[in-house]
Amino acid sequence: MVQGAKIISTGSATPSVKVSNEQMSSIVDTSDEWIFTRTGIKERRLLTEYGQSVTDLAVQASLQAMESISMDPSNIDLIILATSSPNDLFGSASKVQYKIGAVNACAFDLTAACSGFVISVVTASQFIFNGTYKNILVVGADVLSKWVDWSDRGTCILFGDAAGAVIIQSCSSNLNSILNFHLSTDGNYADYLSIAYKQQLDPHPILNLYQGSFQHISMNGKEVYKFAVSQVPLSIISCLDQINMSIEDVDWLLMHQANERILMAVAEKLSISSNKIISNLSKYGNTSAASIPLALNEVVQKNKISTDDIIVIAGFGAGLTWGTIVLRW
Ligand code: UT7
Repeated sequence: MVQGAKIISTGSATPSVKVSNEQMSSIVDTSDEWIFTRTGIKERRLLTEYGQSVTDLAVQASLQAMESISMDPSNIDLIILATSSPNDLFGSASKVQYKIGAVNACAFDLTAACSGFVISVVTASQFIFNGTYKNILVVGADVLSKWVDWSDRGTCILFGDAAGAVIIQSCSSNLNSILNFHLSTDGNYADYLSIAYKQQLDPHPILNLYQGSFQHISMNGKEVYKFAVSQVPLSIISCLDQINMSIEDVDWLLMHQANERILMAVAEKLSISSNKIISNLSKYGNTSAASIPLALNEVVQKNKISTDDIIVIAGFGAGLTWGTIVLRW
């Protein structure tokens, strides 16, 4: 029997340290006026405590999502941690699994930058649709502050650290809330946004192989902006079209929180009212894979979403990758 999949709980975590635009202007040559008018960001949270990592934020967000529905962690079958800033290149999901006590869960990382949460929810839903798993924890978490070049004003003003989590549960197919999805990649433009691995110039003297290290975030902001504003509306329209829905059916549009101007430009292209756009990036900046579940948790906590509301979720970012999910709450 084909199962449906439903988001039954949300959670989030942010570091306590807030850094305002005024504070940023003491680090690089910028101003509150420039940052706010170009991005809509007022402040961001940074994980500054020594020894803390993306795992700590992911654990906090996961515990909140489980506690709000009193779920026993042993009932979780799978954990997907969407992150591009793991604390270990072999993956951080297994540490999350251990720390939350999800003893029966398999856990792995999924790397897809700012589209990571959308791709992870789609991945999780496939395990549910085919009947393999019942309860899946999807966490989007990033600490890009560890990878930002704090002397590059073009990027350092944008990013913040956070984690957001959802629990997806199987349900009968007529209660299914994930109605459709659409995912895309264009690796031709991978260099527009990357944390590249740079090889040393000198090879190992005997093995003749090159080792190296990861660099800071580099971004072609203008091109990423143009890509998002052109591709995200197309993805949303095609995803809705396939299930005979239109923009008029949409109650909420929850996009990756990269830049307020991107959110508004996409809204204008789609002719959707700005009242339907979920936005909290003024307080957190761009938190990469965490931005969508962080904003989702906020509107859920504020009881803004009603049963049966149609939510369109759209992620986009490095890769380049982008994708849409249409769901009924
Ligand atoms: O998750 C996806 C991640 N990335 C994105 O979504 C990024 C998408 N792109 C953007 O959001 C925008 O391109 C930015 C906000 C990054 C930049 O805005 P922009 O309007 O594209 O500015 P720009 O890069 O064209 O720079 C305009 C001017 C330049 O000065 P000149 O050459 O005109 O004299 C920059 O040097 O603004 C300057 N500038 C700044 N000035 C003050 C760049 N960054 C700053 C800054 N403060 N922080």
